[in-house]
Amino acid sequence: MDFINNYIQTNKEQLLNELLEILRIPSVSADPKYKGDVARMAEAVAESLRKAGADNVKVNTTAGHPIVTAEKIIDPAKPTVLCYGHYDVQPADPIDLWDSPPFEPVIKDGNIYARGACDDKGQVYMHVKAFEAMMKNNALPCNVKFIIEGEEEVGSPNLATFITNNTELLSCDVILISDTSIIANDVPSVTVGLRGLTYMEVEVVGPNRDLHSGVYGGSVANPINTLCDMISSLIDKDGHITIEGFYDDVELVSDAERVEMGKTPFDLIEYKTDLGVNEVKGEKGYTSLERVSIRPTLDVNGIWGGYTGEGSKTVLPSKAYAKISMRLVPNQQSQKIAELFDKHFNKIAPPYVKVKVTHHHGGEPVVVPLDYPPMQAAIKAMEKTFGKKPIPTREGGSIPIVALFERVLGAKSILMGFGLNSDNIHSPNEKYGLFNYYKGIETLPWFFKYYAEM
Ligand code: BES
Ligand code: MN
Ligand code: MN
Repeated sequence: MDFINNYIQTNKEQLLNELLEILRIPSVSADPKYKGDVARMAEAVAESLRKAGADNVKVNTTAGHPIVTAEKIIDPAKPTVLCYGHYDVQPADPIDLWDSPPFEPVIKDGNIYARGACDDKGQVYMHVKAFEAMMKNNALPCNVKFIIEGEEEVGSPNLATFITNNTELLSCDVILISDTSIIANDVPSVTVGLRGLTYMEVEVVGPNRDLHSGVYGGSVANPINTLCDMISSLIDKDGHITIEGFYDDVELVSDAERVEMGKTPFDLIEYKTDLGVNEVKGEKGYTSLERVSIRPTLDVNGIWGGYTGEGSKTVLPSKAYAKISMRLVPNQQSQKIAELFDKHFNKIAPPYVKVKVTHHHGGEPVVVPLDYPPMQAAIKAMEKTFGKKPIPTREGGSIPIVALFERVLGAKSILMGFGLNSDNIHSPNEKYGLFNYYKGIETLPWFFKYYAEM
């Protein structure tokens, strides 16, 4: 296995330059303006896989953005690892908060700054390069397949159909994903859980047209005020969500497990300083770490209506809107929570407004058992390259496709990410450490080795 460090040392510059090249492509899946760039990005991923030695590399068209697939079958009798990742990125806005342009990567203080550096181009590219290293050194110990999609950041609307229609192409024994975090560069961790998601949009309608706020204000309900009242009633003073039935299926984590989780290094003062807040806030009776891992939450992602332009305009608006998401934990079900939300939101609507609730994408929570043998291979691999046993953690983010992979392909996922929570994913100044990039390339072949030896 010496080959991997040699490969990294010999190709250090090129490994970086190739990543920088793809970070220049603004593959923003949410904005139709970038459709061409997203397509260009899919081709670049396909080309990198071809160059690395993959067979049957294909850019599959879908109703949305393309899905790249590839494989290297060395022996049908051997097990197959399916590597999943996404080459699309979040929009870069607000652009003026970036210290350097989001699609012109720069290296500063050991980090690569660019949109997608960590989430997920940098991490996808680790897979491509780890595969290339194994190929070049005749060291691929089992079969490998790739599925790299371009719509993860918009809820993977076309991936389910693609997987369902291509179960043979994607058949595998385990799925390997690098799209999560480690605790710190000297505190490795493996992700054993992700939260699910239910994403809603609400519209609150008052009078049939915008009104003069002097002529009508005070006698007609303002839908923005009403929406704010409704939203604030969704969480009580103890941080509990008030939607009837919301907690019914929440799996309670045992005290023993909570004690175990409590050993995860976490510095509250550092946490607050990093975020620039004087206090943290959340559900009563739980620590910050628990609040972002084993407990469900509700957040307003955006709220709008009325006049938000320059200067002031006196208006009593006709409509108000909000996008509201809920993070779910085992065994909550995304669809069921959407229905509970819908019912509750209609119920709490005062008679002076009408409400409309729509359901965006969602995804189910996941847990990966620690005693699942491939998980042990992941733990061994990280221990090997970090020199420390990784800590199992549940993370707060969501990768909705994981639950679907299990349902349709019957395979579990190993979540072996190398990002840091401080990498500003989805925020301005997203970054990815050079340490993390190279460490990922170094660690992944160890996973393959230990996995194939099982
Ligand atoms: N890579 C993230 C998910 C993630 C981030 C998991 C950090 C663990 C730690 C992924 O790209 C993402 O952003 N997912 C979305 C869900 C999607 C449906 C838009 C999320 O979690 O908001
Ligand atoms: Mn991601
Ligand atoms: Mn993301």
